[in-house]
Amino acid sequence: MIFERRHIISTKDFSREEIDFILDRAGRLEPYARRGGLDLLKGHVVATLFFEPSTRTRLSFDTAVKRLGGATIGFDSAESTSTVKGETLSDTIKVIESYADAIVIRHPREGAARMASEISSVPVINAGDGAGHHPTQTLLDLYTMRKECRKPIEELNVALVGDLKYGRTVHSLAYALSLYKARLSLVSPEQLRMPESIINYLRKQGVELVETPRIDDVLADADVLYMTRIQKERFPDPSEYLKVADSYRITPDTLKGVKDDMIIMHPLPRVNEIDPAVDSTRHARYFRQAFYGVPIRMAVLSLVLGKEA
Ligand code: CP
Repeated sequence: MIFERRHIISTKDFSREEIDFILDRAGRLEPYARRGGLDLLKGHVVATLFFEPSTRTRLSFDTAVKRLGGATIGFDSAESTSTVKGETLSDTIKVIESYADAIVIRHPREGAARMASEISSVPVINAGDGAGHHPTQTLLDLYTMRKECRKPIEELNVALVGDLKYGRTVHSLAYALSLYKARLSLVSPEQLRMPESIINYLRKQGVELVETPRIDDVLADADVLYMTRIQKERFPDPSEYLKVADSYRITPDTLKGVKDDMIIMHPLPRVNEIDPAVDSTRHARYFRQAFYGVPIRMAVLSLVLGKEA
């Protein structure tokens, strides 16, 4: 299995064995994710280029590098860069590759990370490209399922709920779960259905799936309830957003009748889709899920930079 110098752009680029290998490595690195103590990235610089807002992804990459003894450079909005003077993404990448040993990029344009990887001589990690992919989010989602569910991933019934059209986290996760043949329930308003190309892919992979607009249809059977935010910023027409903005909301009442060990995940940020009163229930895992971003990103960075854990 070769990860050194590899670009991480889409979960479709991974085999199941490769994903399991990364999750195993994250497990070994997790004790260091809170306290550091490893110098695997000493002397290395990682650039975090965020052309779109982020809290978790940017800061957990930053933490991951620093826990491994490395340094980061970068920016958290395009406004503070020469992009506003008209510099192209291609030129930006050609410059940054001479400053850093790896590039983490978030960009509003689908395909931007793939394009960057075709130019860059150092590994490029996609931290979210428009409505496209978010592979390290998927790795931490799988790690959460592995750690927090009582059954192996291949035996889980996973309900993906909310904006399945624009939500890149659910696109990446659906591809990865197809490798495990987990059962999928796709819950969304009609306007926000999972793209047909992904549904066809899942069916071809032999994934057992159901689609429904009603969350009540899936609650009793779900092992994982994966909630997502309706992606307001990706709607061409704001009035269309308002029609679906509050389609789903989980409250303690909604949880009556779910499996005892069902877990609720969310890539965050949340808006209205999970009542804060749910945070203290035994089902909530979203904040722990956000923490798992650190060991996962430690694993990914150390692998693409060729550092043995
Ligand atoms: N899950 C996630 O991508 O969160 P951020 O947008 O805060 O990075």
